Amino acid sequence: MTHPPSGTLRALLERARWAPSADNTQPWRFHILDEAACRIDYRPHAGMGVFNLDHYTGHLAMGGLLETLRLAAGACGWDVDASIAGGESEDQAFSVHARLVPAKHRPDPLADWIEARSTQRRLMLPHGLSEASRLSLARDLPCGYRLVWMTGLTQRHRVGRLLSQVGKVRLLMPETYEVHRDTVDWRARHSVDRIPAAAIGVDPLTRRIMAWALRSRARVAWLNRFYGHLLPRLEMDYLPALACGGHFFLVAAAGGDGLSQRLAHGAAMQRLWLSAARHGLQFQPEMAALVFARVKRHADLTP
Ligand SMILES: Cc1cc2nc3c(=O)[nH]c(=O)nc-3n(C[C@H](O)[C@H](O)[C@H](O)COP(=O)(O)O)c2cc1C
Repeated sequence: MTHPPSGTLRALLERARWAPSADNTQPWRFHILDEAACRIDYRPHAGMGVFNLDHYTGHLAMGGLLETLRLAAGACGWDVDASIAGGESEDQAFSVHARLVPAKHRPDPLADWIEARSTQRRLMLPHGLSEASRLSLARDLPCGYRLVWMTGLTQRHRVGRLLSQVGKVRLLMPETYEVHRDTVDWRARHSVDRIPAAAIGVDPLTRRIMAWALRSRARVAWLNRFYGHLLPRLEMDYLPALACGGHFFLVAAAGGDGLSQRLAHGAAMQRLWLSAARHGLQFQPEMAALVFARVKRHADLTP
């Protein structure tokens, strides 16, 4: 068969959109052109501010989406022939033209975990990960990527301290107010296009206080002054960093920061995430540290 049956592409896009995106902003729009072809536009959420500085997290998410589409297509005997148009302009707008073609390879078992993958922000078991688990994760990575681990108690404490400092910046920086207000659904256990409050890893009382405070900047300032930011940082940053099996860095062998590299990094990130689900592990990306490092570098370079 050289042409997919009617409805195949739509069903594959339905699966692809389970891919993760920073703050669940899902920066993609789909246009089905015919039974085998579609155009996917990169449409970043306008209010992401520093969290999508230079479109870094948006591009990673697009890479994860395309990899998920490839995996979903592979499970039905199709491959995705994708070409990119744009990406050079100021707003980094670009589109992907994707066409289904008969697959030449066997389906990838990671496809079975597309809907099961999730983000875990709560405390986990602090047992060290076995060598076998670490190797299984590394095996599912594309060639050219490796994992660097920080697992012992002292190392987890060091990461926890760093993340807690990052948490302070996140909670006090005026630029993050709209993001916290708009991307978390403060009353929900489940959400279609935001982060449900139940998933952010703070206790119900702090959650209610944060929901109340985020109705205005003045309330946030009051909260930071009188309630402080220690408890949310402890719950969201330090304790989860300590109570887990370990931290890792996903490292790419090749340098460069162009769109195609970012899409490749996003694909590697999503493969790792699916691999974790496949091996009964859970994880949380800790991108805020990298995001703020980018903000700092950007500020240093801007006169
Ligand atoms: C590029 C990228 C960066 C992310 N950064 C973080 C992060 O720093 N902290 C965090 O808790 N979640 C982070 N996430 C996870 C998203 O918030 C999460 O994937 C999204 O809310 C959808 O939820 P789900 O993964 O459970 O489907 C990131 C996701 C992506 C794709």
